Amino acid sequence: MQKANKKVKKGGEKKVTQVRENDGLLVLKNLTKKFAEHVVLDEVSLAIEKGKTTVVIGPSGCGKTVLIKHLIVLLRPSSGEVHFKGRRIDDLDVNELNKIRTHYGFLFQGGALFDSLSVAENIMFPIRQHFKITDWKEAEEVVKGKLAMVGLDGFQNYYPANLSGGQRKRVALARAIALNPEVILYDEPTTGLDPIRADTINELILKLQKELGETTVVVTHDMTSAYKIADRIIMLHKGKIIADGDAKHIRNHPHPTVQQFITGQVSEDDLAVLRMGGAISQTQFLPRDFEE
Ligand SMILES: Nc1ncnc2c1ncn2[C@@H]1O[C@H](COP(=O)(O)OP(=O)(O)OP(=O)(O)O)[C@@H](O)[C@H]1O
Ligand SMILES: [Mg+2]
Repeated sequence: MQKANKKVKKGGEKKVTQVRENDGLLVLKNLTKKFAEHVVLDEVSLAIEKGKTTVVIGPSGCGKTVLIKHLIVLLRPSSGEVHFKGRRIDDLDVNELNKIRTHYGFLFQGGALFDSLSVAENIMFPIRQHFKITDWKEAEEVVKGKLAMVGLDGFQNYYPANLSGGQRKRVALARAIALNPEVILYDEPTTGLDPIRADTINELILKLQKELGETTVVVTHDMTSAYKIADRIIMLHKGKIIADGDAKHIRNHPHPTVQQFITGQVSEDDLAVLRMGGAISQTQFLPRDFEE
């Protein structure tokens, strides 16, 4: 896993991270992303293997969504490169990018179905965006097939408002696979679901991976989900990849930040910040009648 991220230093030159395009279907090369002076990703290099499930973990705000958006060039790097199937894509114009994006399915953080469209119309949306539908019967069959894959055939005429959170995620998943993508990117697919519904989504991700054989990248802070679905887990922290390996490697990782994250412990630094806020005055929370 680590072989693609070898660091070489030649005679005092700037450190160059060598990732060859043929190391992965999706490759990030020395990718830095800044928003004004805020460096979110700092020279990140990563080669994502074809047909495998790579899970990106890390604390809230560490840059997971920013990273996954670069894989589909919804964000452009401040410096560095993104490659898909050996071709550099971060510098393409929007028309070229849209062609590339037909190879991707993307499940946005929060599900983001169109509330004014029915379930069937939601799934049809990416198809209509990229292709002119001439055979509507065939399009309906495609929608039916995708819904059957997520166990929701029969819900075609429902609207998102009439679905549960778990059902909405499943529809969003059906929409993500509408174009038979080679790559599926999931941003927090289980967030906001109870453990059983979350596990249904995990099972679906595994099932789709098995049936479609696509390359999957999942962003999550749900470690149960990460351990269940990942071939490889990557942890982001302060703009860098600090851990990279299979579930066993991550479980046994010696880095204290990794252990704190995977076991859900608050770090001493975070506790110090909380303590700096001072003791909470009890009177603050008393009803008005009890104020002194
Ligand atoms: N368009 C933007 N403009 C400015 N700052 C941004 C933008 N998008 C993201 N950021 C900043 O980049 C950092 C990383 O954001 P990101 O959404 O990737 O975090 P995350 O790891 O996905 O967090 P979460 O687990 O809460 O979803 C945050 O500090 C965020 O404020
Ligand atoms: Mg996010």
